[in-house]
Amino acid sequence: MKNYTIALIPGDGIGHDVTEAACAVLEVAAKHSGFALNGARFPWSCAFYRETGSMMPADGIKTLQKFDAILLGAVGWPAVVPDAVSLHGLLLPIRKEFTQYANIRPHRLLPGVNGPLKATEFDILCIRENTEGEYSGAGGRVHQGTGDEVAVETSVFTRAGVERILRFGFAQARKRRGKLASVTKSNAQRYSMVFWDEMTQRVAAEYPDVEVTSYHVDALAARMILAPESLDVVVASNLFGDILTDLGAAIQGGLGFAASANINPDRNAPSMFEPVHGSAPDIAHLGTANPIAAIWSGAMMLDHLGERDAAARVMAALEKTTSHGIGTVQGKHRTEAITAAVLSRLSQ
Ligand code: NAD
Ligand code: IPM
Ligand code: MN
Repeated sequence: MKNYTIALIPGDGIGHDVTEAACAVLEVAAKHSGFALNGARFPWSCAFYRETGSMMPADGIKTLQKFDAILLGAVGWPAVVPDAVSLHGLLLPIRKEFTQYANIRPHRLLPGVNGPLKATEFDILCIRENTEGEYSGAGGRVHQGTGDEVAVETSVFTRAGVERILRFGFAQARKRRGKLASVTKSNAQRYSMVFWDEMTQRVAAEYPDVEVTSYHVDALAARMILAPESLDVVVASNLFGDILTDLGAAIQGGLGFAASANINPDRNAPSMFEPVHGSAPDIAHLGTANPIAAIWSGAMMLDHLGERDAAARVMAALEKTTSHGIGTVQGKHRTEAITAAVLSRLSQ
């Protein structure tokens, strides 16, 4: 029997509830399809930071390296650890150290879910650059606390980094409806974003079958609301992709529906699967977190591991669940009830 090793990092807040749900579903899916998921659980989180002074042990990355994949809930509990400390201590280093440069975020309406838009045709695949750009961490502050204070946050865009994410996006567009939207702000940002636009044109020449359009991020945000059917694959920088995918999640019906995969396409390190949402302190401990995004992320993990049938079964179970109105309205069903509904449909 095939056996995959999975590093499970529930993290903080609702990360615990939604990963528990995802694991329950993934285990049953694995059993049905005749493979095993061998999970190892890591308590790395803000609570771990409070005990140890760091978000993960010094050899945390080395520990994760040997796993086939990582399943993560959410990281961040700002009441205890400042976000800039917790995220730069766990989530962001994993993405960067494992060169998970392609963050795939699918946005589509599950059956039975009424998003806020009138349009029902909504199926966008956002490909977010995940290792550099505005998240490079370069910068600093001078004259701190004085009237002369200056803070600088430098975006770093490398040719290799921009080229590979664009190529990844074009390849995805080829597998879908053949359209790619490249997102920048090159009317205001004349170095990095003009460079990104130029690279888009250059890479586009290798994919003549893909229709490519460059948009400014502000206009693209409006288009996602006003004409979502005109979009297929959207490729964006780290920060723009972050913002656009919360917008995509909202159109899907809420943060609880948006899944994501942090992929290392070269497969020389594990990829990581996690919902788009965070730890949701406002609803943590209520038992009402929507586990659908985490379960969907789990399906993306199965797909990445090559277990396509199992992934498709999980997605079909999710769709059957929402088409019966379960999990479609936030707060109406508890996390456990939604999970049970998915599990029962998985066994049908
Ligand atoms: P958030 O995504 O945690 O919450 C935003 C809103 O969406 C809240 O009202 C929340 O209740 C709701 N929501 C989120 N997920 C939901 C779900 N599954 N079901 C129902 N409702 C859901 O964003 P935030 O409040 O800005 O961040 C909270 C913490 O999480 C911060 O520390 C932040 O840095 C962190 N964060 C982590 C990740 C991650 O680990 N990938 C992502 C985003 C935010
Ligand atoms: C996400 C999150 C993270 C990001 C934060 C928590 C650093 O918002 O995964 O979308 O910006 O990448
Ligand atoms: Mn985000």
